[in-house]
Amino acid sequence: MCGIVGYVGPRPVVELLIPGLARLEYRGYDSAGLAIQQQDSIAVIKQVGRIADLEHALSLSPLPEGHTGIGHTRWATHGAPNTINAHPHRDCTGSVIVAHNGIIENWADLRSELIAGGHEFASDTDTEVVAHMLEDLADLPLAEAVRSVMKRTDGALALVVMRASDPDLLVGARRGSPLVVGKGDGENFLASDIPAFLEHTRRMVVVDEDRVVEITKESIRITDLEGTELPLEERVIEWDLEAAEKGGFSTFMEKEIHEQPRAITDTLRGRIRRDGLVDLSELGLDPERLRIVDKVYVVACGTSFHAAMMAKYAIERWVRLPVEIDIASEFRYRDPVLDSNSLVIAISQSGETIDTMAAARYAKAQGCLLIGVTNVVDSALARESNAVLYTRAGPEIGVAATKTFTTQLVALQLLGLYLAQVRGSRDEGSLVHLAAAVRSLPKLVEEALQASTDIEDISQKFAHTRDVFFLGRSGDFPVAMEGALKLKEIAYLRAEGYAAGEMKHGPIALIEPGVLVVGVATDTHVRAKTISNMQEMKARGATIVMVVERGHEQEAEEVADHVLTVPPGPDLICTVTAVVPLQLLAYHIATAHGLDVDKPRNLAKTVTVE
Ligand code: AGP
Repeated sequence: MCGIVGYVGPRPVVELLIPGLARLEYRGYDSAGLAIQQQDSIAVIKQVGRIADLEHALSLSPLPEGHTGIGHTRWATHGAPNTINAHPHRDCTGSVIVAHNGIIENWADLRSELIAGGHEFASDTDTEVVAHMLEDLADLPLAEAVRSVMKRTDGALALVVMRASDPDLLVGARRGSPLVVGKGDGENFLASDIPAFLEHTRRMVVVDEDRVVEITKESIRITDLEGTELPLEERVIEWDLEAAEKGGFSTFMEKEIHEQPRAITDTLRGRIRRDGLVDLSELGLDPERLRIVDKVYVVACGTSFHAAMMAKYAIERWVRLPVEIDIASEFRYRDPVLDSNSLVIAISQSGETIDTMAAARYAKAQGCLLIGVTNVVDSALARESNAVLYTRAGPEIGVAATKTFTTQLVALQLLGLYLAQVRGSRDEGSLVHLAAAVRSLPKLVEEALQASTDIEDISQKFAHTRDVFFLGRSGDFPVAMEGALKLKEIAYLRAEGYAAGEMKHGPIALIEPGVLVVGVATDTHVRAKTISNMQEMKARGATIVMVVERGHEQEAEEVADHVLTVPPGPDLICTVTAVVPLQLLAYHIATAHGLDVDKPRNLAKTVTVE
């Protein structure tokens, strides 16, 4: 998501901030900006587009030289990607400057309060509230004012601020979003990630949760939110630049797999109320419009289609509405029966996939209610839809979808529960129970990731397997499909995902010694049936891997050569945890073959051709 870099020292700051921002490009962004401290004021320049566009704007109206400044790349969450919403943001007087990475959940309340107090807002962002709050605290030392702002804001924040009246001082704060200090000689840096300053210093200090940091060119001071000073724990960075961008992981895909707990936390943020019910009023849809829906269609491609499969099961079970799912490229040409009572949910992480866009436009032209589920703010799908539900996975660099898939599952689970609530199809108690399970997913996924080393060991045994089947029933069926797609995409193995009960109708003819069959059996009401289908595979000589919930290892061991466990949870919601071992399996098999998992052959991250 957003990237921040700040500098205090003797060098001309623009020359440091632009390359620093370029080192954070991997985080994804849609606009960029700089703020440079002058004698008694702060100059700001911002530009929608790439860093090259910002450089072009600078060449037309250069900033005066300065030695303290902040740079920011924005990945839009609140407000369209445009120059006005680009960071840094200012207060009414222009003397307080704020760059932010994250989401301020209570920004709407804070903004109304500040407007009532006479503040004028220039942007649609959540971030700008911080600048105006700091304006009201102009009498306090800057760090104390930032501590006070931190106490009044909910959500994820990494802030870097400066004030015209405090030359050569940057104050940062962190809760939920990353922030690190680069410690130089007679100069210091504050950044979202190490690559922003790695070519200048290898010494760093991590800013921990709920900490405020003050940097000048000679000093670094970290306090908690009560103002108590804390010792600095300095580390020396051993990584090179490329490794640093990958956060110490060997590939972007591995990093993104491990980012899933954070990505899911962000996707949940602000969407489950204190009373435990889901709140998607952000969709801006009249509940009456949702109540007249009599049929749901879900359209998507590839991995997003597997999220659609889970959505079908969830919406049918929780909302009791008939749901059809379609591969987007089929939907638009098969003349589906649609009308204004149809709800069409289009899922696309990029929001630009041509097949999904064509299906979405077709549905809208038929008068359907169109809800887009996408990871990219203001993407074509977001603009086309009547309502958008954003996943907040952050940019995904690896071509194979991982964190965008699990956040789609979570977003669709929230949507299913919200529809059930609005339409009264389930009692509140059961909705609260299910929402609590969704809320626990970041923790459960974290636990599922801990099996990575075991899976790596098992994967070595399958390095020479050519044929793999992934089988599951009910909520485990889309998981099996996704496991097979991951293996095809990045390890180039022939892998098929099947409904476990369908094997006996033909594909079982392919089962013989040497074939690997991965059975997913986390859905409680069909577990026994899936396990008995796996017996049928074993009887024909296949090697068996089973994914089951913890506590069911014994049943699985009776059939499987290897058992992988995931933490237990309610049916369907568990799809999110069940897919993690399959992502890891594909990843480790592909790396055992020495393949480039981030850029698999023949594939594009966003498919904009039919
Ligand atoms: C996923 O790993 C694939 N690379 C691919 O199937 C992808 O899910 C598909 O192209 C759809 O993309 P979208 O979600 O951006 O629409």
